[in-house]
Amino acid sequence: MRKNIVAGNWKMNKNLQEGLELAKSLHEALKDKTVNCDVVIGVPFIHLASVASSIDTTKIGVAAQNCADKASGAFTGEVSAEMVASTGAGYVILGHSERRAYYHETPEILKEKVKLALTNGLTPIFCIGEVLEERESEKHFDVVKSQIETSLFELSPEDFSKIVLAYEPVWAIGTGKTATAAQAQEMHAFIRETLAGKYGREMADDTSILYGGSANASNAKELFSNPDVDGGLIGGASLGVDKFMPIIEAF
Ligand code: PGA
Repeated sequence: MRKNIVAGNWKMNKNLQEGLELAKSLHEALKDKTVNCDVVIGVPFIHLASVASSIDTTKIGVAAQNCADKASGAFTGEVSAEMVASTGAGYVILGHSERRAYYHETPEILKEKVKLALTNGLTPIFCIGEVLEERESEKHFDVVKSQIETSLFELSPEDFSKIVLAYEPVWAIGTGKTATAAQAQEMHAFIRETLAGKYGREMADDTSILYGGSANASNAKELFSNPDVDGGLIGGASLGVDKFMPIIEAF
């Protein structure tokens, strides 16, 4: 059975003290609650170790927002998947549209990152999604299919079973313009069919597919009520417990 997951993506926000405070407050808010989803927070690299050791990571998973496409060596400024895993983080967000657009991450690079994440026991939260122009010219299905095929379809079934997908239409990220529940469902169902075509129905049904892009407390319930939407990757609304908790509780 696939899991429901609500994952925060803090992006480049919060200094270390602020980040620790947010993680601890979220931990406190979740302490005596039973929720119907796994909760993950995607934090800047330098927060990983401190955040992971200040909360119970079986209650709140910790994610990096990136990792290197090389295992180790002379790559100044890079952070390897092994380093991420050694902090106590269990997840890594890969292929976010901001990384693809601003840091020129190609499907080939992402393929290497996914492999290294898996080798080091991290769960990749792999992001896919079209830009506005691609949707308007009705290429969105092809674009998303190709993003999945080029970076993930060489994985063995065993490795693929560890992947979480996040569909994030780029035009909805940070814009306040959410995909409608129907648009999200349509794409998520298409993604699941694409997975079924490669790895079989059971694997497709077991893969968690999150929606991301201006998800918030007021639209989360409707988005999550779709049969193929298994949670959210939440940017802006993950930066405060007051905004993030209602999304977690939308399940
Ligand atoms: P947003 O970001 O919720 O602020 O739109 C989502 C994301 O980029 O993961």
